[in-house]
Amino acid sequence: MRRTFRMPPKNVLRTMADHLRKYETLFTLTPQRMRMIVEAFTESLDVGLAKPDQIVPMIPTFVFGWPSGQETGDYLALDLGGTNLRVCLVTLQGNGKFELTQTKYRLAEEQKQDDGQKLFDFCAECLKTFVESNVGEGPGMLKEGQVLPLGFTFSYPCTQERIDHGELIRWTKGFGAPNTEGRDVAAMFKESLAKHNLPVQLTALINDTTGTLIASHYVNPRTKIAVIFGTGCNAAYMEHVKDIPKIANLGVPPDADMAINCEWGAFDSFEHEHLPRTKYDIIVDEASNKPGEQAFEKLISGRYLGEILRLVLCELIDEGVLFLGQNTYKLEKPYCFDTAFLSLMESDPTDELLMIIGIFTHFFAIETTLAERQFFRALAKLIGRRAARLSSCGIAAIVKKMGYLEEGCAVGADGSLYNKYPGFADRVHEGLQDIFGDKGRNIVTYHAEDGSGVGSAIIAAMTKIRKDAGLCLHV
Ligand code: GLC
Repeated sequence: MRRTFRMPPKNVLRTMADHLRKYETLFTLTPQRMRMIVEAFTESLDVGLAKPDQIVPMIPTFVFGWPSGQETGDYLALDLGGTNLRVCLVTLQGNGKFELTQTKYRLAEEQKQDDGQKLFDFCAECLKTFVESNVGEGPGMLKEGQVLPLGFTFSYPCTQERIDHGELIRWTKGFGAPNTEGRDVAAMFKESLAKHNLPVQLTALINDTTGTLIASHYVNPRTKIAVIFGTGCNAAYMEHVKDIPKIANLGVPPDADMAINCEWGAFDSFEHEHLPRTKYDIIVDEASNKPGEQAFEKLISGRYLGEILRLVLCELIDEGVLFLGQNTYKLEKPYCFDTAFLSLMESDPTDELLMIIGIFTHFFAIETTLAERQFFRALAKLIGRRAARLSSCGIAAIVKKMGYLEEGCAVGADGSLYNKYPGFADRVHEGLQDIFGDKGRNIVTYHAEDGSGVGSAIIAAMTKIRKDAGLCLHV
């Protein structure tokens, strides 16, 4: 078979370098710009605490204060994340120790768009399978007839009136299941549990960030903030009830503390006043199932970074700069360029960038030149670095608001981007120093404990302890 090799245009090196400079300007955040974002971000957090239904909703979670570390017992945790459904049996052993048995179930794309009640029915079915296959004797097993408290980690914005209630404000992360927004998802899930006659009691509905906050503090009490950088992006922290004006009328003792699920992914939504969006970000937004929403998340989270890079490539293909004479239809499919490819491209250790050759030939049937591969890697770096630096703006806003800079604090962080993207944490730390100067070193992120499993169990335990002591769970 005859193969034709494309000769790169003579000036290809210069051309790629010129293009890169353009993208550097577009995707780079200066320290000055970051400080302006932090300013606006801090204001949004305050507004969200002051009034209901704000862009950054700052949701009171009815998780009161920190765990003591002495919580014990067996708990079930169900975690409906962006990509998987996970069921866990957690045994809290006290002294910050625990054991965990879990099973993961993959969520199909269609299930995310199918009727909401069906989605919860599926959750209950998976829970049933898990319970049935874990009944028996010995550690990590459920005893016949035992009714277990269940923590349900439902990582979407829900307004809560009490801990086992949550009205879905809106779906995020590409979910769109009808008949769910505006409804109490805890009640919907209870209905599915009843259908399957399961020996469980839904004790708490929690967000993954709140779970991460509590689980991380359980093992590392210096933790004051939790962040998730995965399919979505969000944070939680512990607030003084007296500083949550919008719940002043509920009669919660003002000296109490309550965890706040910020839902900061919504920062700058609709108004688009503060975040530097490129035309690629605007396309991602407008082509999404929720245009205008989750403006901050769309610049940061794993669901979108690959798509941003793909849109840049498509533009350069249209301009005749890339892959001339090759069939590029495989790259034209929205969301076909996984964010994991950016991680792989950035971490390719070879001079020839063999990993990048592999990605383009294997997944897109496209041949690349070394100059192009170097350009792709540099582009991934720009997009990944911007995401990390914006993330530090969010963390900085909470630090500033709570006055944590001087004494410093630990930030429990989880999610695929944080855990797998090379250099993400370093870039967040670098960003914090750009914002705060040397004092930025006082804020340190670390890989968090499993919030959706262990955190959910600890919160279920804390809730049970409050209930048994006759303390308020809701007001
Ligand atoms: C999205 C969800 C939020 C969740 C985050 C991380 O932003 O709205 O609830 O915490 O993703 O999973």
